Amino acid sequence: MAQSAPKIVLEGVHKTFLADHGTVTALEPISVTIREGELISIVGPSGCGKSTLLRLICGLDQATGGKIVLDFSGRKRPVGFVFQEPVLLPWKTILDNVRFPLDTAGISRGEGDKVALDLINLVGLAGFERALPRHLSGGMRQRTAIARALADDPPILLMDEPFSAVDLLTRDTLNDELLRIWESTGKTILLVTHSVEEAAYLADRVMVMTARPGKLKCIHDVSLPRPRGEETKLDPTYHALVAQLRRDLRARTTEAL
Ligand SMILES: Nc1ncnc2c1ncn2[C@@H]1O[C@H](COP(=O)(O)OP(=O)(O)O)[C@@H](O)[C@H]1O
Ligand SMILES: [Mg+2]
Repeated sequence: MAQSAPKIVLEGVHKTFLADHGTVTALEPISVTIREGELISIVGPSGCGKSTLLRLICGLDQATGGKIVLDFSGRKRPVGFVFQEPVLLPWKTILDNVRFPLDTAGISRGEGDKVALDLINLVGLAGFERALPRHLSGGMRQRTAIARALADDPPILLMDEPFSAVDLLTRDTLNDELLRIWESTGKTILLVTHSVEEAAYLADRVMVMTARPGKLKCIHDVSLPRPRGEETKLDPTYHALVAQLRRDLRARTTEAL
C-alpha cells in the first residue's frame, strides 16, 4: 500500500462558515495523503466536520484555505458520492437510476444500459432492474445508490454514513459487499461512520476526528489481514483497535463537557 500513488492530497485544508452569531470553524487545518486503492474510515462525534471534509473533497463546498489535489485518472468527475439516505429518483426504475449519471453525460442508452446492468450485478441486485425504488428495502436502495455512484467509473468513492439507516444484520452484509466491490474495482474509498466496529472492520486506516473545533486527532493503521470476514471479528487486534477508537472518542467527549 505504501508504494501506491497519492490519490487525494490535503494540505492545510480548513473551512469556516459564516453564521448569524459569528464564524464557525467547521474544520481546522488538516493535512493528509490518501493513496490509490486505500479504504479509509473516518470516525468522530457529530459536528466534528466529517461531512464538511467529504464535501470539500468532492467540490460540493469550497475550502476557506489550503490545497486539495485529486488524481482525476483522466476522468471528468473523479469522485462518486454516497449519502446516508439513498437519493434515488422515485419514478425511475433501478436500471434508470443507475444509468442516470451516464444519461446526463451524453452516453448512449445502449452503452449506458450495459454499464448499469454490470453494476447492478456487482451490487447484488440482478433481477431488480425494472423495480421502482419504493419496492426495495433500505439496504437494496443503498446498493442502488452505490451502483449509481460508480456509474461513470470515478476513481474515488466518498461515503457519508452510508449504512446508518439500515438494520444491523443488513449492515454487516453491506460491509462485506462493500469490501468485495472495493477489492474488485480498486477504488479509493473514504467512508464516514459512527460505528467504531465498522470503521475497524473495513479500513486500511482509521481517521479519528474531534469536535469544537472539528479537527483530525489521529490516524490508526489497521494491520488486520485481508480478506476480512467473520474471523476478523474474533481477532484480538480488531478488539484492541475498537477499544482504542472508543477511548479516542471518549477522551474528547469528556474534555468537552
Ligand atoms: N452550511 C453550513 N453553515 C454553517 N455551519 C455549518 C454548515 N455546514 C456545517 N456547519 C457546521 O460545521 C460543523 C461541522 O459540520 P459537519 O461537517 O456537518 O459535521 P459532521 O458531519 O461531523 O457531523 C458543525 O458545527 C456544523 O454546525
Ligand atoms: Mg455528517
